[in-house]
Amino acid sequence: MDGNGRWAKQRDRPRTAGHREGVKSVRAVVEESVRRGVGTLTLFAFSSENWQRPRSEVNILMELFMSALRGEVRRLNDNDVRLRIIGERQAFPEKLQRRIAEAEELTGGNRSLNLQVAANYGGRWDIARAARRLVADVLSGSLDPDAIDEQAVTSRLSFPDLPEPDLFIRTGGEQRLSNFVLWQSAYAELYFTDLLWPDFDAAAYGRALDDYARRQRRFGRTGEQVASRDPMSAYGRG
Ligand code: IPE
Ligand code: MG
Repeated sequence: MDGNGRWAKQRDRPRTAGHREGVKSVRAVVEESVRRGVGTLTLFAFSSENWQRPRSEVNILMELFMSALRGEVRRLNDNDVRLRIIGERQAFPEKLQRRIAEAEELTGGNRSLNLQVAANYGGRWDIARAARRLVADVLSGSLDPDAIDEQAVTSRLSFPDLPEPDLFIRTGGEQRLSNFVLWQSAYAELYFTDLLWPDFDAAAYGRALDDYARRQRRFGRTGEQVASRDPMSAYGRG
């Protein structure tokens, strides 16, 4: 969700005003996801690298996170949205961790949309943690090193129960992944827009989804194989 700071700067306002405005886009995109039947939406709210920002901005982001949890969770629950936070949450203030746990508990049975907010998340952190888990399982004797395949790694990442991302959207004109879910995005379709996150509304999101729907996903096969609908081409990834 990139471009909050620039959105505010364009208006001669502090960067944090952009973060506040960005919450509206979060709301719009979540509601549009429910409306369109998107099964899973992951929002990259705060990366492991964002701690390096000025202390005051980090503090405001934490407060915003708190107040969004306070203000939005009921609405999410009413919309049958299941909220989960992925990332190293131990680094967050304890009060925030408690609120996260409560929100996850409250919405745990909801099914319309899996909403994941990546906070203090990094794709490399996720893979390194999976490696730690693999080693622990090998050392405890429950895993044979020769049995370590892609599935063994995948199952130790942050959200093994969810499908891999089909579409990756980056706002704010940047064309990079910036350590977002790396392993799981191996086959994600990439979509870049110059719109700043606070300007990314339901219509803009709809354009991204429509663009995605027009793409042909081949997963290593030929376009002819995919088009011919032979049994092999039924092999999809979600
Ligand atoms: C994204 O907006 C929000 C967070 C990373 C928390 P930015 O803060 O990156 O906005 P720009 O890129 O400076 O405009
Ligand atoms: Mg940025």
